[in-house]
Amino acid sequence: MPAPNHSLRSDSGRAPQHTPVLLEEVLKLTQPQSGDTVIDCTLGSGGYAKRFLEATEPTGRLLGLDRDAVAIQLAKTKLGEYQARMILKHGRFGALKSLIGDFPRPDIIVADLGLSSFALDDEQRGFAFQKFGPLDMRMDQTSGKTAAELLNTLELRELERILKNFGEERQAGKIARAIVERRKTKSFSTTQDLVQIVEAVYREVLKAQPGQKIWLKRQIHPATQTFQAFRIAVNDEISELEKFLPQAFEILKPGGRLAIVSFHSLEDRLVKNFFRNQAKICSCPAEQLQCTCDRIPAGKLLNKKPIQPNSAEIQINPRARSAKLRIIQKN
Ligand SMILES: C[S@@+](CC[C@H](N)C(=O)[O-])C[C@H]1O[C@@H](n2cnc3c(N)ncnc32)[C@H](O)[C@@H]1O
Repeated sequence: MPAPNHSLRSDSGRAPQHTPVLLEEVLKLTQPQSGDTVIDCTLGSGGYAKRFLEATEPTGRLLGLDRDAVAIQLAKTKLGEYQARMILKHGRFGALKSLIGDFPRPDIIVADLGLSSFALDDEQRGFAFQKFGPLDMRMDQTSGKTAAELLNTLELRELERILKNFGEERQAGKIARAIVERRKTKSFSTTQDLVQIVEAVYREVLKAQPGQKIWLKRQIHPATQTFQAFRIAVNDEISELEKFLPQAFEILKPGGRLAIVSFHSLEDRLVKNFFRNQAKICSCPAEQLQCTCDRIPAGKLLNKKPIQPNSAEIQINPRARSAKLRIIQKN
């Protein structure tokens, strides 16, 4: 399927932007130096990439990846002046090793997971429950199944699993059953088809009066978790990260740093466990009192606890509130 030609202008007429999250903390811990090579696996609109290109002047090089073709276009425009020192590629970080070509082994790899604000804000992409648009949700609109296709075809159990695991949705069973019930008569095609189903389930659960706005009571709109769950499923986000971590660590230079910003507990757990395994100093069985394995750790954690945005950053950019940063240095 060809990529739809989305406008690179927002409703306000300005080029769409994404406010980078935890950027100063990422720079402080990865410590880019003049001449370093950097892979930014999630270019977005190039906020991180620009600062890495500046910090590695005059000879440092950057390879930038994104699975969203719109992000590549935006970053190309924003980073035009650095053209001679950067390569931008459309692709998934889950296939990192196949995308690096002859780019030198990196000193730094960064991945700032999740979605760019410009994609979330574009109603044609179907990520936002507040907007009316096609129920797409693919970060890469050139391949894969849309959210509507999943909703119209997946079995009840699979729908429930997605809602539970990726959305931590307490009404997963009820919402899954309501999806299956609706599609018997009318298939899903727009964001509001899904919003209506979730709202109807919550109205019943909360015994809401007709016309009563149920999300005022619960603070967040009841469709928030459902949309998050299907976005993660559509883009296979968890298995992307599982594939990415070992590849990234393998290609780093000794002494190189791998920094990941995640926005979901499942992602953070994957990163935490992968990093801890690399940094483990002993692999003897837990019941053995004395270490005999002489294991040499493959890496060193640069922060024991995840770094989170401070209240000033959250106030300026509320989308940063669930971000967690972890960094490991390869030995
Ligand atoms: C939060 S944004 C990154 C923003 C960026 N750090 C900046 O400063 O502008 C995340 C980006 O990662 C991309 N992305 C998510 N999963 C990806 C994957 N598996 N492979 C490549 N890009 C991915 C999304 O398309 C999105 O543009």
